[in-house]
Amino acid sequence: MGRRQLSAQAGRHDKLVPAPRTVSSVLGGDTVLRAADVDVGQARERRRQRRLVRVAVVLWVACAFAWYRVLTHQPLNPLAGLELGPDVALWLPLVLLVVLIGLVMLLPMAGQGRSPHLLYRPEQIQVTLDDVKGLDSLRDEIVKTLNLFLGYATFRDRLGGNPRRGILFEGRPGTGKTHMAKAMARHAGVPFLFVSATSFQSMWYGMTARKIRSYFRALRKIAREEGGAIGFIEEIDAIGASRGGVDGMGVSPATGSLVPGRRIEPSIASGNGGVVNELLIQLQSFDTPPLGERAWGKVIDWVNGYLPLDRQLRKRSLKYNNILVIAATNRAEALDPALLRPGRFDRRLYFDLPNKDGRRELIDYFLDKKAHHEELDDPARREDLAHITFGYSPVMIEHLLDEALVWALRSGRDAMRWADVNQAKLSEEVGLKQPVTYTPLEREMVATHESGHAVAAYLSGVGRRLEVLSIIKRKDALGLLAHNDTEERWTRTKTELQAFLRISCAGMAAEELWFGESTTGPGGDLVGATSIAAQMVGALGMTDSLVSYMAMEEGLNDRNMVARVLSDPEGKEKVDLLLHEAKASVKDQLDRNRALVEALRDALIDREELIGDEIVEVLRQAEAKLATLPARRSTGLLANRPEPLAAEEPPAPPPPAPPATRETLSAMGMCQEPPHPGGHGSSS
Ligand SMILES: Nc1ncnc2c1ncn2[C@@H]1O[C@H](COP(=O)(O)OP(=O)(O)O)[C@@H](O)[C@H]1O
Ligand SMILES: [Mg+2]
Repeated sequence: MGRRQLSAQAGRHDKLVPAPRTVSSVLGGDTVLRAADVDVGQARERRRQRRLVRVAVVLWVACAFAWYRVLTHQPLNPLAGLELGPDVALWLPLVLLVVLIGLVMLLPMAGQGRSPHLLYRPEQIQVTLDDVKGLDSLRDEIVKTLNLFLGYATFRDRLGGNPRRGILFEGRPGTGKTHMAKAMARHAGVPFLFVSATSFQSMWYGMTARKIRSYFRALRKIAREEGGAIGFIEEIDAIGASRGGVDGMGVSPATGSLVPGRRIEPSIASGNGGVVNELLIQLQSFDTPPLGERAWGKVIDWVNGYLPLDRQLRKRSLKYNNILVIAATNRAEALDPALLRPGRFDRRLYFDLPNKDGRRELIDYFLDKKAHHEELDDPARREDLAHITFGYSPVMIEHLLDEALVWALRSGRDAMRWADVNQAKLSEEVGLKQPVTYTPLEREMVATHESGHAVAAYLSGVGRRLEVLSIIKRKDALGLLAHNDTEERWTRTKTELQAFLRISCAGMAAEELWFGESTTGPGGDLVGATSIAAQMVGALGMTDSLVSYMAMEEGLNDRNMVARVLSDPEGKEKVDLLLHEAKASVKDQLDRNRALVEALRDALIDREELIGDEIVEVLRQAEAKLATLPARRSTGLLANRPEPLAAEEPPAPPPPAPPATRETLSAMGMCQEPPHPGGHGSSS
């Protein structure tokens, strides 16, 4: 088996690598082994030979029986002389009726406890590891796991290790968890039992647990027959959610107090305790022998009861079943902790959103399959596409390109163009265009408001790229400015956050400058601005206080960062001050650059929507016309840092990365929030 195979492999490569091959050089390689070369393949081969022997024995017995009948001059059919008697017409219909009624009653029940899985054989799966793009960091771990699975006997017998039997794939929806599992099954060369956790659920009492048992029984059976089996449980949180109160209390033995960091959930029983227990038990029972063997064991036990101790019959030792169970969830924190202990799902792989290189790889991969105009073959365009899909999961990127194709079809073209991708992105993120007729004054107001945002972003937004400026109504937004980082960023400086505040307040400032008062428009902008300012005050120590409101333990009515800061009068005052400062400085800035705002406003009223370079073009032309103003930029958009405002201290050096909590991250990604209802806002 494993050992023999290793030496066979070593023999094959002897001419190239004279040194004897170690287990690590075979199992620890960075390519997936061929199933047929290692333990999994050999286990299946042994099983195949045993099956052939069994068929031969059955055929041999049948032949012997036939020969016996021929030699003793009896008919070949043993039932030939059987008579049902004269009363058959009386009792046979009755018997058939009883059997029929029995079947009608029992069949639905029999189906209920069946395992709900779908079985795929490796040759039915089209996805290979090469089709999984943008997950390079996980690939190595996946290959190692697969090789351990394929060479399980070698790992057990020669190294004494316990092969991995459970992995948890966690990550947001659409990040490729199911996709990766399929690729693994294809490479493992063993059947893949796909099941969605919700399909275990049944309305009959105890049936859910029975279905789970059936599923694991099917896994064991196939693993015995095929040398291995991979089980995949989709959305495992449906059956593996924490069992509630029982486990919630963690009392530290040393202090007698509650262990810090451990949360106490209100002990409301979730009602799935029994199901989780069944899952826990099944995850420990991979080596349970089949029914026949267990019955035989009982017979041996019974016989042993009559035998003296030194004459006891020996039972067969447990056979190792090579099973790998992969579970996927996007709510790993909701899982019962017992599921995650070593020996169960002890390896957790996190499927993150792809970074820029990953997105580029995905875009190349998807565009290869989708009809596109040659302008999308330009590497610079593809880089742009990778850039504007920041925060997209692989499935979102695929969907975006599909939508772009639909846009192309609508315009009567057979291939998507860059403009289609942009339209698809806008309609996906913000909503479809809604043709509404503004009054001339309203139109001018919306255009001024949006131009205010855009000019502020142009002047203050260091390292930001203006993507779309529009006064077309989409969903709740009357207009919008989408701006994005020029490079992928994970931290923000204080200066940048202040610039965000100014950009957010610019719409309001522009309305006041041109119309003397503001409208309902800035409502949405203020939501975003307040949330950033609250983060600066309460989590990032960017005002005169270093106190973090994040450290506050909240009870049952947990509040978000903004609520924590605003419920403190001092915090609220600081937030308000930040917003007022931002508005005053941006108002001053726009006042000094009225020509830019007006140029953009007129262009918007004229064209309704400006995309990418078109916005910058208008601004540049306006700048060039202003003979009184010196040319501010010679090298591209936003290449210079903004002039520090008079009221401000010089920009502080970049602070260390803030803790990546959900709340701070959402503050950083704030510009990706959709505009607020009823307002025309900035977003990116
Ligand atoms: N890394 C990836 N490489 C290529 N395609 C991917 C990748 N991740 C997801 N996809 C595409 O997105 C679809 C949905 O992904 P899936 O694996 O079902 O997501 P989930 O993480 O929710 O299980 C896949 O069918 C595939 O077409
Ligand atoms: Mg999935």
